[in-house]
Amino acid sequence: MKDFERDYPDHTKAPWYEHGDEPQCNQSANPNFYEVMDAHVKRRGFLVGGLASIATGLFGNALAGKGAMAQSTAASALLGFTPVPVSFEDNVTVPEGYSVQVLGAWGEPITGDMPAYSAANTGAEQGMQVGQHHDGMHYFPIDGSSEDGLLVLNHEYIEPRLLHAEKYKGMAMNNRDVVYDADGLRDDDEVLKEMNAHGISVYRTSKQADGSWAIVSDPHNRRITVLTPMEIAGPVRGSAHVRTKYSPDGTMTRGTVNNCAHGVTPWGTYMAAEENWAGYFANTDQLDQKPDLPREHARYGVSTNPQGGRYGWHLAKSGADEYIRFNASATGASATEDYRNEPNTYGYMVEFDPFDPDSTPVKRTHLGRFAHEGVVFAPAVEGAPVVCYSGDDARFEYIYKFVSAGVYKAGETDGSILDSGTLYVAKFNEDGTGEWIALAPGRNGLTPANGFADLADILVNTRLAADFVGATKMDRPEWGTVDPNSGEVYFTLTNNSRRTQAQVDAVNPRAENNFGQIVRWRYANADHTRDSFDWDLFVIAGTQRQSATFAGATLTEDGMFACPDGIWCDAQSRLWIQTDMGDLGPDYSGPLKDFGMNGMLAADPATGEIRRFLTGPWGQECTGVITTPDGKTMFVNFQHPGGHATADQFAAGDMGSLFPDGDAAIPPRSATIVITKNDGGVIGS
Ligand code: FEO
Ligand code: CA
Ligand code: CA
Repeated sequence: MKDFERDYPDHTKAPWYEHGDEPQCNQSANPNFYEVMDAHVKRRGFLVGGLASIATGLFGNALAGKGAMAQSTAASALLGFTPVPVSFEDNVTVPEGYSVQVLGAWGEPITGDMPAYSAANTGAEQGMQVGQHHDGMHYFPIDGSSEDGLLVLNHEYIEPRLLHAEKYKGMAMNNRDVVYDADGLRDDDEVLKEMNAHGISVYRTSKQADGSWAIVSDPHNRRITVLTPMEIAGPVRGSAHVRTKYSPDGTMTRGTVNNCAHGVTPWGTYMAAEENWAGYFANTDQLDQKPDLPREHARYGVSTNPQGGRYGWHLAKSGADEYIRFNASATGASATEDYRNEPNTYGYMVEFDPFDPDSTPVKRTHLGRFAHEGVVFAPAVEGAPVVCYSGDDARFEYIYKFVSAGVYKAGETDGSILDSGTLYVAKFNEDGTGEWIALAPGRNGLTPANGFADLADILVNTRLAADFVGATKMDRPEWGTVDPNSGEVYFTLTNNSRRTQAQVDAVNPRAENNFGQIVRWRYANADHTRDSFDWDLFVIAGTQRQSATFAGATLTEDGMFACPDGIWCDAQSRLWIQTDMGDLGPDYSGPLKDFGMNGMLAADPATGEIRRFLTGPWGQECTGVITTPDGKTMFVNFQHPGGHATADQFAAGDMGSLFPDGDAAIPPRSATIVITKNDGGVIGS
């Protein structure tokens, strides 16, 4: 029998629901990654007193100052720049010999009537401009050019006080506060502007005669938003789970939200991840005065609050269909007369071709339904299945792999290859091996008798299927990347403050679990279709005292970091690591205070050396990184500058950061920065 208060809490109102992200929804009893890692390092005798102590906190600060581990001093041939120090300033720093410019800040016009940015822009105008809160990003070269291409970027969420800064001037607002009218409803144009500031931006950008990069008006320029019609493809298409008033046959839905990281397919399309979509919905169905949510809502943390977890879009005054669909309560006589199933049309990877501006984006359901951080493809092999990986970023969730049934054929294969195959979930064994467990009908106990009716049911309830088969609970899997030269896969595990608190209370005062780590794995013959792999920890992040690389070193002052999030391996195997320690400002004094502002580092996979390359302004996280094919121009995003500003600061007109406009009258804006090396060389070399 269910305990409704235990099983169906409103996760989005819980104290661990941070800046719009990552509710803990997994209450299952599978082993956690720290237990596995601890046993792993003990068995190997790996860095006795080093990794094991860091993983478990057994030695506390005993390592400090004893020279127990060598510093990371190996000179790397890959990393040719002088690292930048930790920064506490509201600015951008890059190594000596590099230059930076801002491109495509929130609100810059890219399509339609090309309305200029203003804090007073309407909802419709926002639909023709770059969205807010930039995240995953890719550069698609036009005719192979490294000076002319399409930049495609996600917009993860929005900050209402900045989006509506003109209207909310003088109000005491925190960064997540939403304004409701006296009648408890929301202004329609504010809702429209919020929907249009979400989604994906596509714009052409090219290098100008003076060396700078500019947005170019072009037929490819496009906004994909919360209102864009999308096709549902794969096994969930047409199933009872996704039939709605909008699409009674369960083949279509509208929009995408919380697009965190992304992926690029071997056939050249873009995929946007739907991460923390659950909080956008409200389900107030009750039984005996207790929440009565179906498992496909409850396990993902769909809000039971009448206002929803985030923006209350379903409370738009007009009651228009495109707004009220975020009410996932059963309001009609059947599922095709309301939007009880709307949340089941979210939680996927969304594919579209940036070179076809009229194309309908497609939700690829066979890659699973969860809080997708992003997706990363293994290098395509002619005649072999397509393989990709995706992390579920919430505390104690999992890492997944998809292997297609069909085989890759260059020039022929398209996204439909992702509609049939097998979804797997990772189990990390104590001995440094790992295995992929199939989430498919009849396999590993996923049968109707055990509550999984068919493949569509397994996929809509991916998390529950992964619980059932005993997958390894991870510390918030964020981005992944594949080293194109070695075939090794890297995943960032950003932090897990919940586990930290439990362990601190029980054993010792270490706080390393606030800092995260990066896991990597490899296959025999670099064959990504295999069911088993070998893994190790590339780095356990932290301060000099609290970190360790796989090579047995600690991080140096110039390489220490916490909370890895974005990660991308470039063509020469440089690993770019971006940090999201939250919206830290200059007055921050918590456990991450030694790390300064969020930024980006570069690592050498062979030596484990890590050097800080970039620091960003106050309040932002650094996310999204790609270079042009020649490696000489790098694009990086800063998301939510000023996010740390208090309600009192905001009321007084101090929005927390002057980035990027340098004008206190203009709200801080998420933006892309373009990094070049003054000598014209490859970035990082
Ligand atoms: Fe949206 Fe998990 O970062
Ligand atoms: Ca992220
Ligand atoms: Ca993050």
